[in-house]
Amino acid sequence: MSAYIIDGKQVASRVKEEVATAVTRMKEEHNYTPGLATVLVGEDPASATYVRMKQRTCEKLGIRSVGITLPADSSQTEVEEVVAKLNADPEVNGILVQLPLPGHLDEEAVLNTIDLEKDVDGFHPVNIGRLAMKGRNPLFIPCTPAGCMELLRDAGTEISGAEAVILGRSNIVGLPMAMLLQKANATVTICHSRTKDLKGHLQQADIVVAAIGRAQMVTGDMLKPGCTVIDVGINRVDDPEAKRGYRLVGDVDFASAKEVAGAITPVPGGVGPMTIAMLMKNTLHAAEIALSKG
Ligand code: GUN
Repeated sequence: MSAYIIDGKQVASRVKEEVATAVTRMKEEHNYTPGLATVLVGEDPASATYVRMKQRTCEKLGIRSVGITLPADSSQTEVEEVVAKLNADPEVNGILVQLPLPGHLDEEAVLNTIDLEKDVDGFHPVNIGRLAMKGRNPLFIPCTPAGCMELLRDAGTEISGAEAVILGRSNIVGLPMAMLLQKANATVTICHSRTKDLKGHLQQADIVVAAIGRAQMVTGDMLKPGCTVIDVGINRVDDPEAKRGYRLVGDVDFASAKEVAGAITPVPGGVGPMTIAMLMKNTLHAAEIALSKG
């Protein structure tokens, strides 16, 4: 059996087209343009690339983009003052502070400063708290887990009643993913570096979400036949034959996993493109909230 390959590029394109259409309509009907502000502290090359990609996608979809770059040695007060200014700016609907922040900064305090209604990353403690609680809903869902849910929908995977195993417990992916799947009535197990019998857990799983940051650690023999595998990992492995001397692989060994799984995301071209698409969707939602408040 060879799995259905979930095409993240295609699903992301569909989401972005829907956002672009809604943005055009918002401009025509309300003379209003959604705006996203990105805040980058320091010069980490990967973070700078991600922020640039987010800004470019905004421009393509007709969303106004404001980019703020601060020096790596910025103080806590300086960063919080920038966020406060963006909170007060009526042309900014969404605020994204790129993570990780330099080590001397208090990430929680910075995220706490973001206006709840502009928290397009969904990382504000109140939004995360609402995501965790029964009967409550956050204004925004973190982009990568929200993208994973779209991919599960694309694969036609039944979530209610499914056994779901999440590998990794990061604040950005593992934890909110677990909460989302639980809200969708899955039975959720979070595995991590101290988990004793990873294979035992995986073999029970109808849904596997791998977000642990270890190249190809999940192999086909660990999976339950027919399961859906969402691979969030992006790892570099040496490859002398590749132009750059490396290639990107996920946390799942794609070649063996696709022979066992019913559906699987590739790396690259799976979860990756979804994060930005869902950020654009969240920014549109933030603009809708602002419009509804007049
Ligand atoms: N760093 C890695 N992923 C993300 C993300 O989704 N949002 C932000 N703000 N920072 C990140």
